[in-house]
Amino acid sequence: MSQNKVAQFKVALIVGSTRRESINRKLGQALVKLGKDKLDFQLVQIDDLPLYNQDNETELPPSVVRFKSEIAAADALLFVTPEHNRSIPAALKNAIDWGARPWGKNNWTGKIAAVTGASPGAISTALAQQHLRQILGAQGVLLMGGEAYINFKPGMLGADDTVTDQATRGFLTSFIDQFAALVARFTAKTPA
Ligand code: FNR
Repeated sequence: MSQNKVAQFKVALIVGSTRRESINRKLGQALVKLGKDKLDFQLVQIDDLPLYNQDNETELPPSVVRFKSEIAAADALLFVTPEHNRSIPAALKNAIDWGARPWGKNNWTGKIAAVTGASPGAISTALAQQHLRQILGAQGVLLMGGEAYINFKPGMLGADDTVTDQATRGFLTSFIDQFAALVARFTAKTPA
């Protein structure tokens, strides 16, 4: 199977930070660059979603309709998230709640996902990722195993989405290669 044929698999990139200069968005873009020959990534916006309210389920807001259709169209999901107060950011939880609702219209179930995240903190995003795995597992998401806690250091990522730190680049390359292999193995699509 050639790499170009594998790139038919669509991956929704969901970044847990809404910050303009987010290190996690930069990490996500670096992963896209490392994996672009194998996976077809689309960055899915979450900062335009209203705060989840069950009252709005009867007529979904346009940004929610857009978000849910982008998740539905994806073969797999790549979450890159910061840790906020030892958990996932509220904006990410809000997006997951919209994706899971209304009842019977859960867009997460059966998707394959990988999880990573960066923080300058000593244990990086370990606790946020554990919470995220718990939440996604309950939604029926199939999670790639392993651990990818990126301890962010200034200069680790270059301006053009390159990973300048060699050890980190090697780690992230094998992370994305493992994810691409998993998506190809478990996605019910026959390469053209
Ligand atoms: C943080 N930060 C943080 N870091 C961490 O390792 N564990 C934590 O629990 C928290 N908690 C936390 C709460 C809030 C409200 C903020 C704003 C920040 C620091 C965080 O890792 C740092 O701001 C990163 O730069 C966030 O990633 P983005 O937004 O740059 O992608």
